Amino acid sequence: MVTSTRFKGRDFLTLMDFSREEINYILDVSAVFKRKLMAGEPHEYLKGKTVAMIFEKPSTRTRFSFQAAVAHLGAQSFYAMRQQLQLARGEPVKDTARVIDRFCDALVIRTFGQEIVEEYAEYMVHPVINALTDLTHPCQGLADLLTIREKKGGLEGLKIVYTGDIWNVAHTLMIASSIYGLNLYLARPKGYDPDGKVMKFVEEKSEETGAQIVLTSDLEEAVIDADIVYANTWHSMGGPEMEKEKRLRDFAPFQINREVMAKAKRDAIFMHCLPGYRGEEMTDDVIEGPQSVVFDQAENRMHTEKAILALFVS
Ligand code: CP
Ligand code: NVA
Repeated sequence: MVTSTRFKGRDFLTLMDFSREEINYILDVSAVFKRKLMAGEPHEYLKGKTVAMIFEKPSTRTRFSFQAAVAHLGAQSFYAMRQQLQLARGEPVKDTARVIDRFCDALVIRTFGQEIVEEYAEYMVHPVINALTDLTHPCQGLADLLTIREKKGGLEGLKIVYTGDIWNVAHTLMIASSIYGLNLYLARPKGYDPDGKVMKFVEEKSEETGAQIVLTSDLEEAVIDADIVYANTWHSMGGPEMEKEKRLRDFAPFQINREVMAKAKRDAIFMHCLPGYRGEEMTDDVIEGPQSVVFDQAENRMHTEKAILALFVS
């Protein structure tokens, strides 16, 4: 089943590095792992392997989904927050990377700048997997695509409306939408704009695929006939947290509530990468309501991460 060698030893740093065919393949392998788990079939493809995990920001889903995935694959994971490591006392990334490379078959890292994961990748032979940076959250992106595929029967011709911080998750949805030719409306207050490098990639890719990526500050209009309504926090971890009060004011008109959901298609789904803040980016009745798929989406983190590990780790 996991026979493709095209991914072995590669890094998983951003979806910008992968073609639509490659992402489809990873999603197919994820679906196989999901079925295997449901059927109770053992799938210890990485017996005897070791995976280091360095997290410089908090995590619930990413940490536990990776640790569960590693365990189901028959491997072992070693988790540490930055403050437990010599990194916190000034050991350089390039030394940390080369040391971990001698013990472990992969590194899963959550950090701030994308250039930090790139530096680990430069100094490690084994694969580096981006578990969230300020710029991108590609593991989340894969789980989102798998969820959409399951719930909507495919990835063609869909309209997605996203509201929330224009940060890692927004960038990842932009990248994925541009690769798949989807229509993505990002509803946000004026002045909250995407990263220039992501914009450039998305503009070029959209030319090829016919995707429409639209920045708007009119949520009410954007949400009309949406297939997917996707909310995310207004104050991401890292820099944006410092401006929380300002952001709560600026983003207040962008809350997904029952009235906003009613403007989307009748069979629209509500997605959220979580953690979610009820009363801010969405109301409790929306996240708890019948259109919400947020926990299926969270579960898919584990299935997609299993596929990444099995395909990339050699
Ligand atoms: N969605 C997500 O990455 O959640 P955590 O921050 O809990 O890992
Ligand atoms: N944009 C959020 C996503 C958390 C999973 C953050 O970076 O905090």
